[in-house]
Amino acid sequence: MERIKEAIARAKEKQSGASVSRLRDPEMPAGVDEIDIVESPIVYNETRVVDLDPAHLEKNRIITLDNEDPNSISFDILRTQVLAKMEANNWRTLAITSPTPECGKTVVAINLAVSIAKQTDYTALLVDFDLRRPRVAHYLGLPDENTFADYLDDKIEFADALVNPSVPRFVVLPNHRPIKKSTEILTSRKIKKLVSDLRDRYEKRICIFDLPPLKATDDAIAFIPQVDCVLMIVSSGETKPADVKECRRQLQSANLLGVVLNKSEEVSKAYYY
Ligand SMILES: Nc1ncnc2c1ncn2[C@@H]1O[C@H](COP(=O)(O)OP(=O)(O)O)[C@@H](O)[C@H]1O
Ligand SMILES: [Mg+2]
Repeated sequence: MERIKEAIARAKEKQSGASVSRLRDPEMPAGVDEIDIVESPIVYNETRVVDLDPAHLEKNRIITLDNEDPNSISFDILRTQVLAKMEANNWRTLAITSPTPECGKTVVAINLAVSIAKQTDYTALLVDFDLRRPRVAHYLGLPDENTFADYLDDKIEFADALVNPSVPRFVVLPNHRPIKKSTEILTSRKIKKLVSDLRDRYEKRICIFDLPPLKATDDAIAFIPQVDCVLMIVSSGETKPADVKECRRQLQSANLLGVVLNKSEEVSKAYYY
């Protein structure tokens, strides 16, 4: 835990202005004046900065902040493979799903996003689109204010819903409570426009969408056509081969990057690609 604490402190040191509660858009490329984006549909000059609690992260298996955690090597390998395929195809949006719940999608999505933000020059934007069972904010320990639900209700601007959890180039769109009519929302014009804006706005940004499981609802299969590619998480000993086969069939027209076998005890590493 000490190591996570130190890693967070180091990340904060790197982040100029981290002592104040808001900072300049972390994605803004050097030399681009804020005036340049004033007319854009997604304007965010400032992103809320939230401090993370190392003990809470550790409890929730968010390990990639700690370079020395032996399991973080698995996420480094995953990150390298994912980015290699995405770069080769000019893909920038990635959905994460699984056949059934509890396979570890959210844990993998957060660790992968942190790994991308920490180890590459990409910004990682993690969007919690498991609208029926949102967990990203809870696993990271983010405050329950200005959420995606508020943005949907037009109470706040998109920019104000974003959070920077004290890791440079890591931005989260959190959500705290289940949202009704999730399939309609994920396929609405508002969300379609948002996803395409997010994709096209910065070349150096990878957007990761944490989705619900394929077998539980229509949400994932309805949303996936909007993203460039998909990563499927399966749980060792829990996911049935027939479910994997069925989900691969469902994803036939999507760009399936690969399948992550999570919760494996057969190898020393808990995760591998
Ligand atoms: N590699 C792993 N080993 C052990 N437990 C894990 C692993 N990955 C995730 N978990 C645990 O499994 C549970 C479900 O994880 P979560 O990421 O919320 O799944 P999903 O998003 O697929 O529903 C959580 O309690 C999480 O801590
Ligand atoms: Mg989840």
